[in-house]
Amino acid sequence: MSLAISQAPKLPRSHTPVPSQMTSKTTSLIELPSDLDCTQLPQHIAVIMDGNGRWAKNRGFPRIMGHRRGADTLRDLLRCCKDWGIGALTVYAFSTENWGRTLEEVDFLMTLFENLFQLELKEMVAEGVRLEVVGNLDNIPASLYDAIDKARAATEHNQGVRFTVAINYGGRQEIVRACQAIATQVQQGSIEVADIDENLLSKHLHTAHLPDPDLLIRTSGEMRISNFLLWQLAYAEFYVTDILWPDFDRRAFHQALLNYQQRHRRFGKA
Ligand code: IPE
Ligand code: IPE
Ligand code: MG
Repeated sequence: MSLAISQAPKLPRSHTPVPSQMTSKTTSLIELPSDLDCTQLPQHIAVIMDGNGRWAKNRGFPRIMGHRRGADTLRDLLRCCKDWGIGALTVYAFSTENWGRTLEEVDFLMTLFENLFQLELKEMVAEGVRLEVVGNLDNIPASLYDAIDKARAATEHNQGVRFTVAINYGGRQEIVRACQAIATQVQQGSIEVADIDENLLSKHLHTAHLPDPDLLIRTSGEMRISNFLLWQLAYAEFYVTDILWPDFDRRAFHQALLNYQQRHRRFGKA
């Protein structure tokens, strides 16, 4: 996949590129590391891709360079999910709180997202990725909205990894909006208050198309969820690594999966 984002110069990758044979459709699951149990993989992984700014700062680069490199990391992770048989990947790309950053950084991110949806579309179609974008898309730039719309339409019949990108997403806002939609239905008489249950609320969330995540990965060490998937993460396993997002490679992902497979998920039972 090419990620020629014009605003930032290309930097050499710090780790070995993915060999092409690892990405071919026919060999995909064979490449799952032998210490991972293919029957115990998380089917839906959520990721808080954090640490781009620190990655850049550590190298004396402007923050946007971290975002640029972070996009490369995401591309590799998506491919890895396909190769290893992970059914769904949901990533936090921009929170409702991230508007509080400088105009320069916000503009860069919006342009980066737009370019990615355009430049990666061909590859996503070829690899069977089904793209969804969640969040409040009412006030994102029109050109980004158009790129999302086009990419969604082009991938909607794909049967591969369900790839969901959260942009202008806030978990609280999502729940409030779901409540408003349900309250409107009650007001209009189409449902009763007694019809409101967990299942109905889940169906009104942006993620209605997905099962709840089994695993949440957060990079760069922060032990918080920063308004991400507040409802959906009720029983997800958390994995926090100090690795900064641009450095989160296949090996780091492998470690996260190994750690996940050592967990005993009890769901409240003894
Ligand atoms: C995550 O990296 C990317 C976005 C929030 C868009 P950050 O930009 O938050 O990086 P740090 O946390 O400042 O290092
Ligand atoms: C969470 O990271 C949002 C995204 C990764 C898009 P932040 O960097 O915005 O979160 P805080 O500020 O550390 O909580
Ligand atoms: Mg951060």
